[in-house]
Amino acid sequence: MTTADTISVTAPADFHVHLRQGALSELVTSHVRLGGFTLAYVMPNLQPPIKNTEEALLYKAQLQAIDPTVEYLMTLYLSPDLTPDEIRKAKHAGVVGKIGRLSVGPVQADNIASTGVKSYPRGVTTNSDGGIESYETYYPIFRAMEEEDMVLNLHGEVPSAPSDPSSNICVLNAEPSFLPHLIKLHAAFPKLRIVLEHATTRAAVECVKSLGDTVACTITAHHLALTVDDWAGQSWNFCKPVAKFPDDRQALRDVIKEGHPRFFLGSDSAPHPPTKKSTSTPSQPCAAGVYTSPILLPLVAHLLESFGALDKLENFTSGFGRAFYQRPSNSARQTKLRRISGRVVEAKWTKGTEEVVPFWAGKEIGWEIVE
Ligand code: NCD
Ligand code: DOR
Ligand code: ZN
Ligand code: ZN
Repeated sequence: MTTADTISVTAPADFHVHLRQGALSELVTSHVRLGGFTLAYVMPNLQPPIKNTEEALLYKAQLQAIDPTVEYLMTLYLSPDLTPDEIRKAKHAGVVGKIGRLSVGPVQADNIASTGVKSYPRGVTTNSDGGIESYETYYPIFRAMEEEDMVLNLHGEVPSAPSDPSSNICVLNAEPSFLPHLIKLHAAFPKLRIVLEHATTRAAVECVKSLGDTVACTITAHHLALTVDDWAGQSWNFCKPVAKFPDDRQALRDVIKEGHPRFFLGSDSAPHPPTKKSTSTPSQPCAAGVYTSPILLPLVAHLLESFGALDKLENFTSGFGRAFYQRPSNSARQTKLRRISGRVVEAKWTKGTEEVVPFWAGKEIGWEIVE
């Protein structure tokens, strides 16, 4: 429903979010609802990563303990430890009961311990040191996933090779260089549902469009706003994949405006302690990640409106992703937004000693959630 000054979105779903662990998780997990969302598709790159059914269930229980009103869909981290048997176990785990010392439940949805598997190319992003080297090693896993109808989530960048002077790979072409892998994977596993995560280039948009209905693509809020100029020298806007050229950003905006059903929101909201974002040293580079969870739905409405796509808000933030993931919305859960002038985004959020600085801090945003 859209009128001039209010919008209502049915059960907004964020299909890519980092909810961390420990004290930071206590702070940021509650921001999913604060930002207007009722479903979180949770990334597994903890320290250590979430690699099996038990770990996924334990993590899910921890998140439910922080905010039981959100539906959490879990993912496993693709690594040599993963087996086809573990895929089947994760899919069929009946999780009512006790996991370790934590009681789990009442369990939401259908008791799937993990909805997807996330692949991180080696070395390119936070906690991805144990990520993939070669996809063919994992073909037995992908076959099991295809049989079990599990989703493969790809961080679609090839690793840079700084020690190889003949390599021309860098942050600007790491995503286009990955696309041949996506094409090959889809050809090898045409029924496997694959999501190219956080696309940032025109090349990625065109590639996903050219593939079959089992291949979809998430787009973040921040990549609809940023280009290279916004992160070069501005560490708060630095994330992987980096924002690219204005023409790439235009392609992301256009595919949303077009209402293409295989392109939907995955915020990649990725909180880091401010000290890790604001400083870099030779041994400790600035952490990659932009944090959007607490303002997410108003921010997406604001950005979509800026390029004439506000009428796509519901499909982009709920309908299309839910259809691809086969998670129909519960229409009882609406998030209402109303237009506001003079709203400035908070400088930070804190809980105990934990602190996070949101994207768009100090800037105006034209929408707010109606309580
Ligand atoms: C893949 C491989 O070697 O299996 N390479 C890679 O992940 N770097 C190639 C592919 O699957 O296209
Ligand atoms: O910028 C990023 N941060 N990109 C990722 O893929 C991971 C994320 C994180 O976990 O911090
Ligand atoms: Zn990623
Ligand atoms: Zn991510």
